[in-house]
Amino acid sequence: MPIILLSKSYLLCCLLALALPCNTWQKEQSKLLLVSFDGFRWDYVNRVPTPNFRALIEEGVQVERVENTYITKTFPNHYTMVTGLHAESHGIVANEMFDPVLNRSFSMDGPEVYDSRWWEEAVPLWVTNQKAGRRSGAAMWPGSDVAIDGSYPSRYMLYNASVPFESRVKRLIDWFSGPEPINFGVLYWEEPDESGHNLGPESPLMDVVIADIDDKLGFLREELKRAGLYEQINLIITSDHGMTQLSPDKVIELDNYVRREWYTWIDKSPVVGILPRDGYFEEVYSALVNANPNMVVYKREDIPNQLHYKHNVRIMPVIIEVKEGWTVVQNRSDTHTFMLGNHGYDNRLRSMHPVFVARGPLFRNGYTKASMRSVDLYPLMCSVLGVHPLPNNGSLASVLDLLVPTSSPRPPLPPRPAEPSYAWAVGSLLGAALVVGFLFSFVKQVTQRQLPPLPLANKEMSQPLLQLRL
Ligand SMILES: *[C@@H]1O[C@H](CO)[C@@H](O)[C@H](O)[C@H]1NC(C)=O
Ligand SMILES: *[C@@H]1O[C@H](CO)[C@@H](O)[C@H](O)[C@H]1NC(C)=O
Ligand SMILES: *[C@@H]1O[C@H](CO)[C@@H](O)[C@H](O)[C@H]1NC(C)=O
Ligand SMILES: *[C@@H]1O[C@H](CO)[C@@H](O)[C@H](O)[C@H]1NC(C)=O
Ligand SMILES: [Zn+2]
Repeated sequence: MPIILLSKSYLLCCLLALALPCNTWQKEQSKLLLVSFDGFRWDYVNRVPTPNFRALIEEGVQVERVENTYITKTFPNHYTMVTGLHAESHGIVANEMFDPVLNRSFSMDGPEVYDSRWWEEAVPLWVTNQKAGRRSGAAMWPGSDVAIDGSYPSRYMLYNASVPFESRVKRLIDWFSGPEPINFGVLYWEEPDESGHNLGPESPLMDVVIADIDDKLGFLREELKRAGLYEQINLIITSDHGMTQLSPDKVIELDNYVRREWYTWIDKSPVVGILPRDGYFEEVYSALVNANPNMVVYKREDIPNQLHYKHNVRIMPVIIEVKEGWTVVQNRSDTHTFMLGNHGYDNRLRSMHPVFVARGPLFRNGYTKASMRSVDLYPLMCSVLGVHPLPNNGSLASVLDLLVPTSSPRPPLPPRPAEPSYAWAVGSLLGAALVVGFLFSFVKQVTQRQLPPLPLANKEMSQPLLQLRL
């Protein structure tokens, strides 16, 4: 009996493969692992010996200048990397937000992170990869433990900053090599951002932190080699943003210019989101606009177009951006939280830019590229994975030179037809009728049993919560 059942479902698969327009499960799946070391500025690799970064650069590609998206904060930029959208289009416009339509606030440290509505102005690549019939895995990437568009990653970890880097790596490698392997993974690590804030990027103590990140990259390389994955996997090592040195002499106190009762302070330094109380917009704006030469104050509609930071209700009606190295507070008693390093400033500043290196079978060898935009990473990753990108702000053409020529352009999977054409519908109906008719007579003659359920291409889309390894 089991033999008959097996051959029956095998036959069903073959017939379906002939009848369906997009059979993805037979295709060789390329593997991709995207790693973000939070706050790893582009030039850190040149500061101390970084043999593991060096090895990847020699074996693969490096991009010297990566322009990330405004504002140069952690949540907006991590969501940009996996959607190819500027913050105004993916909706995660800051680490701290207020949505006047939802009438709710969001903090990256708060429980609102798990409210899908904040994320669903976009669909991240791990979901799109799953919709194409593959499996994705996520180790603590922002948004990856939230249901987005109804789906979690096939495999993921609940966010817990105390879980060591090594545990995150081991989980991912298990998922890449397991019985139902993922082919796309994302990995997040909190350093060197945290040390960069506390010590300031120019501190000599940062050298130790950077060397430690290189060791961690070394651990990842070794584990990939041990699992036999190193030569198969396309590995991208990047970051969300850089870091700049602050000074206790460069502090702007808003209390000197505007009454606290007139506004709510939504997002923090160095790009402050100001929500004026009802009826106080003009008072707040005119009090601030020429108040201090080290800050620029915008009405939302006047934010320069090239920042792509305007068309979203979560961007506050008044935005203050301070000059590089400056900090803005309400008054100096707030400076007990004073940091020595920060980011968030204009994305055209060199200090705000992240590192970017990549290596693997689809990447060129020993190639250095002058510049790219972080929105281009998404179409690049779609091309590596062979999935069709959703509408985005990136350009595959401008980063295609990072890939080996034979792989360019990799044909993306055809999009699922939104409105199937007449011919497609007729073809599908005929195909389905053929399958059903054949199976009906086949089953009736051979087994007299019920049909097995049709295999669903997307059955891995809604995985139950996975437990953290303690
Ligand atoms: C928004 O929510 C607050 C409580 O968080 C409530 O006091 C207020 O009435 C709400 N506003 C509207 C317009 O619903
Ligand atoms: C977070 O991870 C640490 C280290 O693995 C563990 O001890 C702790 O219990 C975890 N916290 C939660 C809430 O799961
Ligand atoms: C400064 O801000 C704190 C709250 O952050 C407040 O308690 C204090 O009264 C303020 N001081 C002045 C001089 O306004
Ligand atoms: C970015 O892409 C989205 C989705 O296609 C689009 O709505 C938006 O207008 C684009 N933004 C820019 C600046 O082109
Ligand atoms: Zn940070």
